[in-house]
Amino acid sequence: MVTTKWPYHGKPARGVNTKGIGYLDWYIPRLREKRKFDLSHSGLQFEWDFDSLIGEELSNVAKHHIIDKIDPREFIAQKEGISKDRVVVTHGATQALQVALLSVGHNLDQDKIIAVESPSYAPVSQTANLLGYSTIPVHRNPPESGFGHWRIDKNEWSNVLEKASVLMFTPILNPVGWDLHPDDRNWIIQTCKKNSVHIIADEVYSDSMVNHPDSVKIYDCGEHCISINSLTKVHGLGSIRFGWLIASESVAKQAQDVFRTVEGMISSPSVRLAKAVFNKLDQPVKKITELREKNLPLLRDLLQSHGIDWNEPEYGVFGAFKLPGERNSLEFVDDECFKESLLAVPGCMFSEDMKSWLRVAWSIEHEDFVKGIEALDKALNRIAL
Ligand SMILES: Cc1ncc(COP(=O)(O)O)c(C=O)c1O
Repeated sequence: MVTTKWPYHGKPARGVNTKGIGYLDWYIPRLREKRKFDLSHSGLQFEWDFDSLIGEELSNVAKHHIIDKIDPREFIAQKEGISKDRVVVTHGATQALQVALLSVGHNLDQDKIIAVESPSYAPVSQTANLLGYSTIPVHRNPPESGFGHWRIDKNEWSNVLEKASVLMFTPILNPVGWDLHPDDRNWIIQTCKKNSVHIIADEVYSDSMVNHPDSVKIYDCGEHCISINSLTKVHGLGSIRFGWLIASESVAKQAQDVFRTVEGMISSPSVRLAKAVFNKLDQPVKKITELREKNLPLLRDLLQSHGIDWNEPEYGVFGAFKLPGERNSLEFVDDECFKESLLAVPGCMFSEDMKSWLRVAWSIEHEDFVKGIEALDKALNRIAL
């Protein structure tokens, strides 16, 4: 089996043909190397103090939450101001992608496909192949000027959406950090409605822009729209595997049945730990603003000093740029960055077309970021040698 670094698109691929997640195959061993400087984290590094949040209750964390009449759908319903009947809780966003697709994907004998956006976090696209569907990529392209939103080609998307039953995309695009342009978003929502295509939007980064005027949650945009989210990225709690989807009540009912089929029950420790933080989720969002203010000026200055164009997103914790001389960024991270004990993420993990792009994150404490930027400076100087 050959697994590429970038996401697979095409015919169903499961059983002996299952495709690996090249990104994680590459990333997990490098995280284990414990490089001294780390600009790789797409999730906020945030210390939740569970000792003071739940104190002695920590010893009861594995006690079944149903006994205490805790319904985790209520946490999300309250946060978003919606009915809890629109919510299904899952073990992370990645599982919510499967549950959502199993709830609204076409029957496998139909002549339809799943449209998946590229670039992407591989599970967004490969989930469909694993579940027996064929996929066709639809692209979000760099802005012609080099600055601003990445844009869609409506002709390309139109042709694919005519054949699709579901469209899967990530509004805040990984690895570049830009949200969908509002015009593109409106066009996609209308076109999918016209073609009876369900939308599954992976919004794991979208809470980082809740205070931005362009902030929109897809579940608010029609009966055909499903939002996926979790505590992993913006709220710094990936390890507790707490995610959810929000859909129309009828789709949520189907999704609840799917969840019970694939998982049975949600984990009580995840629910109890999530309950302790849900009314404090503004804290990590504020932290992101603080880190942007402190860390981004250093990154801007560094890239300018190397003559690198920097298309900075107005929200979130990461962005991406092209290396000088189209240097291959996978080789750069494993050679020049390795020599400086620095970790960042090569763009090829998200798309074959992004081989010279590097994703850097400012999701870490300022003192650590300063050192990371010094290491990046030295690694970039090595390219020139
Ligand atoms: C777009 C996207 N969705 C989901 C995830 C993972 O989310 P979770 O940990 O909630 O499964 C990632 C992680 O990199 C991601 O980039």
